[in-house]
Formats: sequence, C-alpha cells, structure tokens
Amino acid sequence: MADYVSEVMIDEIRSANDIVDFVSEYVQLEKRGKDYFGLCPFHREKTPSFSVIPNKQIYYCFGCNKGGNVLHFIMEIEKLDFKEALKTLADRAKITLPDMNSATNEKEIMLKKEIAELNREAARFFYNTFLSDEGSGAREYLAKREITTKTSRHFGIGYAPNEWDGLYKAALERGFSKEAISSSGLFSLNKNGGFFDKFRNRLMFPIFNITGSVIAFGGRLIDDSDGPKYMNSPETPVYSKGRHLYALNFAKAVQSKQLFVVEGYMDVIAMHQSGFSNTVASLGTALTENQARLLKKYAEEIVICYDSDAAGQAATLRGLDILKNVGCTVKVLTITDAKDPDEFIRKNGNAAFKKLASKADSLVEYKVSKLKEKYTEDTVDGRKALILEIAQVLLQVDVSVEREMYIEKFAKENNISESALQELVDTKLGRTPSTGLGKKTGGLRSESSGKLSESRTYSKCVYDERMLIAFLCMDNNLLKVVEKKISKDDFTGEENKMLAEIVFSALEQGKPMLFSNLLDRLEGPMASQFAALIQKDCATDNVRDALNSKLTEIVHDHLDLEIEMARAEVRESDDPIRVGELLKLIAEKTALRKQINN
Ligand code: CTP
Ligand code: MN
Repeated sequence: MADYVSEVMIDEIRSANDIVDFVSEYVQLEKRGKDYFGLCPFHREKTPSFSVIPNKQIYYCFGCNKGGNVLHFIMEIEKLDFKEALKTLADRAKITLPDMNSATNEKEIMLKKEIAELNREAARFFYNTFLSDEGSGAREYLAKREITTKTSRHFGIGYAPNEWDGLYKAALERGFSKEAISSSGLFSLNKNGGFFDKFRNRLMFPIFNITGSVIAFGGRLIDDSDGPKYMNSPETPVYSKGRHLYALNFAKAVQSKQLFVVEGYMDVIAMHQSGFSNTVASLGTALTENQARLLKKYAEEIVICYDSDAAGQAATLRGLDILKNVGCTVKVLTITDAKDPDEFIRKNGNAAFKKLASKADSLVEYKVSKLKEKYTEDTVDGRKALILEIAQVLLQVDVSVEREMYIEKFAKENNISESALQELVDTKLGRTPSTGLGKKTGGLRSESSGKLSESRTYSKCVYDERMLIAFLCMDNNLLKVVEKKISKDDFTGEENKMLAEIVFSALEQGKPMLFSNLLDRLEGPMASQFAALIQKDCATDNVRDALNSKLTEIVHDHLDLEIEMARAEVRESDDPIRVGELLKLIAEKTALRKQINN
C-alpha cells in the first residue's frame, strides 16, 4: 500500500472526509453530548448503539463492537478494499491520487519503454557485431576462456566495436529519441554536446531483469588497451544497481532450493556452463538488502561463493550479515587453489566443484574459521580471546539444538572444555569468576547490553500489550479472559502500566471503555501513537480470537524479556552468588518458554 499512496496522502484524504458528514449519508445520527448516535448499519437493532466520535474521527458500535475510522467505515459498508476506499474518499474530497494515467507518469512510462527498446536493439547490435568479422577477436577471447558458442548465445554476449559511433548511428537510424539516447546510459556526451558510444572494443554482457528484458550492460576489455577492466551501465530509469542480480532470470527457472551467489559475470557464465544454473552474481558490488530479499524469495539456501582474495572474503562477511538479517539460510563456499569459481571449474572440473559445494560452511562455521585465522598465536591470552569470540558468534544461533552441536564441535576443535564454552554462551559472555574470562578483553563483550528500553524484546512487549488494550477496547467483555493470564501490574513500562490502569479500572467498575474513551484520557504523542495503532492494526472480524492469540504472544514476550533482563544483569554483575541465581532463573524461564511452545 505504502508504495501506492504515502502515509501523508492517506492522512490528507482521511482528514478531508469528516466522519460525521460521511456516516450521515448512511445513518441517521443524533447528537448526544459530544458524540453522535444512530442505528448500527452493521447489525440489526432497535435502539441506537452505534456511535460516532467527531473529535476522534472514529466510530464504534456497542452492539456489534465494530469500530474504526472513516476508511474502515466505507470499506465495511461498501465492501471495498483499502485502495478502493481511498480512491472513493479522495474523489469525494477532490484530491487527486497519484494516478498511473496522469500526464507526468505517462511520459515517464513512455521513456522507460523506449529505453527498454533501445537496450534490446543495442544488445542485438552488439550480438551481430560479435558474430561479424569485427567480432573475431572477441570470439577468440571467449574461446580462450573456454566459453562455448552455445553458452555465449544463451547469455547474449556481444561485442562493442572499436568505433566512436557505431551504436549511436544505429540508434539514430532506428529513430530513437534524443531523450532516450541520453538517458539510456549507453552514450557519453562530447564537448560539442554530441553523443558517442560509451562501450568500445569490449566484450558485452547484457544484464537482464527477472523477466529477461535487457536493462543494462557490462563491458569487458579483451586486450591490454587502456581503461578499466570492466565498465558497466550507470543507473538509468530502467536500471538501479543493487536491485538486480545478474542471471537471476535464468537461475530462478531451475527452481533449485539453493542459489549460488558469485561476484562476476564470468563466474556466472562458467557456472551455468558447467551445469550450475542456479547461480547469480551481485556484480562486484557489496550485496544490498534489496538483493538479499530477492534471493530469499527464490531460494531456501544461499551459498556465497566469492573470490578467494581479501576483497572477496571481506565482501563475503558483509554479505553474510545482510543475508542473515533478512532471514536467509546462508552457507559459504571457500574456493581453494583458484582465484574465483570460473578459474576453479576450468582447472578442476565440475565434479570437483560439486564436492567443494557439498562441504560449504554454515554461517557459524565460516565465522569461526575466520576467527581462527585471526588468532593464530597459541598463547593463553590468544586462546581466551578466541574462545570469547567463538562464544559471541554462537550467540547468533537461534536454535538451541544447533547451538549445542556447534559447542561440541568447536570445543573439540579448539581443545577446550565443552562446559566452559557452554557456560560462556549461556551467560552471553558474562564475567564468571570461575574462568576469569572476559576481563581485560574490553570490546569482546556483547555490545547489545545498551538500554533495556531500546531492546527489540522490550519494544515487542510494549507493542503487543498495546494491541491487547486495543482489542479490549473493541470488546469490553474480554477483560475476564485477559485477567486470567495477566494483571495490570504485568504491563511493561510506565506508559503501558498507565494504559492498563485506565482500561482495567474502568472495566472493573462496569464502565464502558472504547477507543474514544481511552483516547480521551491520553495526550499528545501517546494519543496519536495509540490512534495509529487503532487505525492501522486493529482490523479483525474476530476480536476474541485476535485477543487470545495476542495474549499467548504476550506471555511469550514476558518470558523473553525476563530472560533478557536476567542475561543483562549477568553481564553486569560481579557477584558470583547473584550470577548463580540468575543462571538458574534463565534456565527455568527458558524451559518454561520451550514448554509452552510445544
Ligand atoms: N567489476 C567492475 N569493474 C571493475 C572490476 C570488476 O564492475 N573494474 C565487477 C564486474 O561485475 C566483475 C566483478 O566485479 O564481473 C568481479 O570482478 P573480477 O573478479 O575482477 O572479475 P571477473 O568476473 O572474475 O572477470 P574476469 O574473470 O573476466 O577477470
Ligand atoms: Mn574471474
């Protein structure tokens, strides 16, 4: 939705449609005090229990518990989806929505189409040149690199002639507009304001988008002439770097659960030629979050297979975290005795690559192997530091069975006691006096021990509890259900405790508590925070179910928070007795957490 209309726009449209005016078109409203009442349009009733609260711009029915803002109202009553509702309200308020048919957009779309067309023609031009006499050098070069004709045709590999205006002339001949020519990224401007070909005397790799259209090019030198080895299209209206992956259009078609990510064009091409069509390239740039999400969409497991040089290894480490953060399962394949996958395959063949791939490291194994390279010294201090860092890496393993496995493995490999490593991990690198580890090793301790109120678990508690309060406001009868699981003192932070106090005590006294009542009691940012939550997240047609599942989530949240707080205290505490108590508490809560999960 957000990419269709901005939040600001939605706000503007909503505020331009007064809820009382709008609802009045459907319901005969009568003013009582500040609010309006009428017969609910959503359920049959004889006495009015449907209310509209003008100063909060929301409605709520005491009878059927339906409520929301003007957008919810029109969606419900006209059975529209959000987009349609927005459009109707925008029309009503004479606000113009960003429309795909508006003049500026149409121009943009036309330009994009023309550039796409120009790219296709350019690819054809390079391909034909590659096959012509002029392309003999390029063909020889590819043959030398053991790329077959079949493969080069598959990838549409071409050749940009050693001329200043070969492509430019062809583009003019085909009637492309100056605007398309200038924004295609295929040409450069000379001093006189004229254009010349950007790619000259280069092997040309068309870059395809996911549907197989040519959106950009990469060009490689084929001899020792001057200039960078590779030249790539700049960003254009149809190409933004970091949003595409080279050869994903081919790789997605094999529907493999696994995708290899390599650095370069030639790596991809060699991999595909050897049967590993499930390979894409990030094209020399560091992997972006966008690319990571794309990868996640098409594969269950990502195998990073970057160059063996330092730059490639550094890029691997960066890429790992980006992939992990978007939720990918990641492995790392380290190329040995070759510079990159292309060279490896040429040297050792495809079976050898397969064997190498089967031994790819998991994320944790890779990180630990890098640590071992860092701490080569076999001194007591060196080993302590290594163990600490290994423990740090192990903290990122979410599944405890898996963590245990690694603890066993790394303890053995590093000749340390399993229980020592276990203890370290369990206490999140706490300063346990028994080992003395962690002292004098500043910087190795977890950095996450910042303010508790900034932790994800804490924010999740706060958010989930507010959702719970919102659901309670939607159906006041549910207080009994809530009270069975948590009391108002269990709420997290001052603000939520206050919210709970307001809602619980009103309901305990038998007073109704609607959003409007609650919002009436709140001021400034807190009110708008809550209104946003009401407006955005509370659409459900079964409040009881929604509340129940939120309640279960909150019980989990609270255990998570307790565990997190105890761990934080372990990190800070110098008192061995207290640490002992906390460790016991952590173990208990973790067991409880597991138990309710099953
Ligand atoms: N690259 C680039 N500009 C450069 C060098 C590299 O854009 N001057 C990008 C290219 O996308 C290239 C990738 O980084 O494919 C990896 O670079 P490199 O390992 O140097 O090239 P290879 O793909 O291995 O190409 P080749 O084997 O032909 O040298
Ligand atoms: Mn290479």
